[in-house]
Amino acid sequence: MKRLENKVAIITGAATGIGKAAAERFAEEGAAVLCADIKLEELNETVNSIAEKNGRAKAYEVDVSNENSVKNFADKVKEEYGTVSILFNNAGTDQEGGKLHEYPVELFDRLISVDLRGTFLMSKYIIPLMLENGGSIINNASMSGSAADLDRSGYNAAKGAIINLTKAMAIDYGRSGIRVNSVSPGTIETPLVSHLAGSKEEEQGEKFREAQKWVTPMGRIGNPSEIASVALFLASADSSFVTGEDIRADGGVMAYTWPGKMLFEEGWKEETE
Ligand SMILES: NC(=O)c1ccc[n+]([C@@H]2O[C@H](COP(=O)([O-])OP(=O)(O)OC[C@H]3O[C@@H](n4cnc5c(N)ncnc54)[C@H](O)[C@@H]3O)[C@@H](O)[C@H]2O)c1
Repeated sequence: MKRLENKVAIITGAATGIGKAAAERFAEEGAAVLCADIKLEELNETVNSIAEKNGRAKAYEVDVSNENSVKNFADKVKEEYGTVSILFNNAGTDQEGGKLHEYPVELFDRLISVDLRGTFLMSKYIIPLMLENGGSIINNASMSGSAADLDRSGYNAAKGAIINLTKAMAIDYGRSGIRVNSVSPGTIETPLVSHLAGSKEEEQGEKFREAQKWVTPMGRIGNPSEIASVALFLASADSSFVTGEDIRADGGVMAYTWPGKMLFEEGWKEETE
């Protein structure tokens, strides 16, 4: 038996990266996947690739930061499916903004609006469709929600808040059969990373990836499918007594206090993939 048989699953940010990988994985496990994103063209590619493998998926143009857009989407889902079992709040964006006193207010507002407010809005309007039969909500946080990055205070604030919002939601719905957890990825090869640090082909992007590999105990960057697997675990009955938890999938980055000996042991830098 497939792990998400007969389940209706919503995935936001399903056009590319982690959301796309999760949509494909959830569909393989038998779910009807409702894919929401602002990028309609790429979203249709996700849905078509699922349909080619006989999976069930549908595309919805939704801006998670816009209350009306989310509300209209929730109304449509209610009309078409009645109930929902799984919500993966994955849509997000990231950008460097400089030190806090120079950080553009519009950028701060945008990151909070998409990453944090989007998670809140989508949960607020979809939870009523889960109350009858229970369900599982997975919020995509980040290792940047438990510690911080240079020049990225808006992202750090949004992702830190998502981890605690997850706990608040877990408590609110613990008696209603709705589990709420977050996944905190480390660096994963997706368009978001290329946008933030430069693509693999660019010198700056290549430098970023090399540095990220050596500070990662596992010596490599992660793949979207490795986060999709964690989301699948949290979505399925395999995690039936897990709620209010944050699961980090970062190749071990957050396991050390500081790089220590690694800073001057050349071998450490060379032994990467
Ligand atoms: N890639 C990483 O290294 C990494 C690390 C930690 C956390 N994350 C988180 O993973 C999630 C997915 O990111 P990704 O790395 O797959 O990047 P991505 O850019 O490939 O995917 C993000 C998706 O979100 C969509 N999106 C952006 N704003 C939206 C909005 N307002 N409404 C609806 N959809 C919107 C984008 O169109 C895109 O398809 C994000 O929340 C990100 O913060 C990524």
